[in-house]
Amino acid sequence: MALEITSTGAALGAVVSQLDLTQPLKAETVERLRNAWLDHIVLVYRGQDLSDLQLLNFTRYFGELEYPPSKLLNYSQGSGQKADIPLEINVISNVVENGKKIGQLGYAEAKWHTDTPFVERPPAASVLHALEIPPTGGNTSFMNMYAVLEALPTSLLAKVEGKKCKHDVSHTSDGVLRHDFGESATAKECPGPWHPMVRTHPDSGRKALYLGKRAWAYIEGTATEENEEILDAIWAFAERPEFVYEHVWTQGDVVMWDNRCAMHRREEFDDSERRIMHRSQLCGDIPV
Ligand code: OGA
Ligand code: MN
Repeated sequence: MALEITSTGAALGAVVSQLDLTQPLKAETVERLRNAWLDHIVLVYRGQDLSDLQLLNFTRYFGELEYPPSKLLNYSQGSGQKADIPLEINVISNVVENGKKIGQLGYAEAKWHTDTPFVERPPAASVLHALEIPPTGGNTSFMNMYAVLEALPTSLLAKVEGKKCKHDVSHTSDGVLRHDFGESATAKECPGPWHPMVRTHPDSGRKALYLGKRAWAYIEGTATEENEEILDAIWAFAERPEFVYEHVWTQGDVVMWDNRCAMHRREEFDDSERRIMHRSQLCGDIPV
């Protein structure tokens, strides 16, 4: 059967079928997948069963591998992951073994965010492989940030175009203060790199709104109240179903998204159920 790529019909996302990702991919297949990924922002591959090395090999077809945040930020306590997990794999899980969490993010909602905006060169892509999933809950939604920018009212666009935003590194995407960091009084004081709020995607040439996470974000040149007002208005506008594809996981899914023009969130699930995802990432460019 020939490879098929079918749009989800939502604001982003397509499903790739008839492809076994444990097998080597032909150059023309990789080209087709890359183009589909650039067009659809999120690609879903169902029914895969990849070892960590196979997941990394698949990811490498599209660029250079990036390390997880624990390594990028040189956590003094290490990643906390099991010793047999490759350094480029990030375990996303609520499972606790022998009193120790095997991964990150837990079971609670992970609010809208892009991955690792708190480094100078955030990853271009994230790839999640579902190894174990709960019977319900834990769906992951993706937001098309080209579409959000295109639809943004001009009054809001005027407040962000040509502006940079500081992306706080001291809190995780679920709001917890990271090891090795202290609390800041306001978003303006938080440590973190600056990224343009409207960025040109290096491969598609299209402009997208770039937001990291809502909490502790700071727009250059604004007073605290103004900063919070603008960000609240933008986030309220963006969080509309018309910009979103909600992915309902089945075990074996591999989902690769473009972190330069999509945000994502994960809904909560029952902590008495097990959810284990292994994630790989691709290096990004310096955003402009
Ligand atoms: C991530 C993430 C969502 C999920 O891996 O970056 O946000 O569904 N995960 O686990
Ligand atoms: Mn994430």
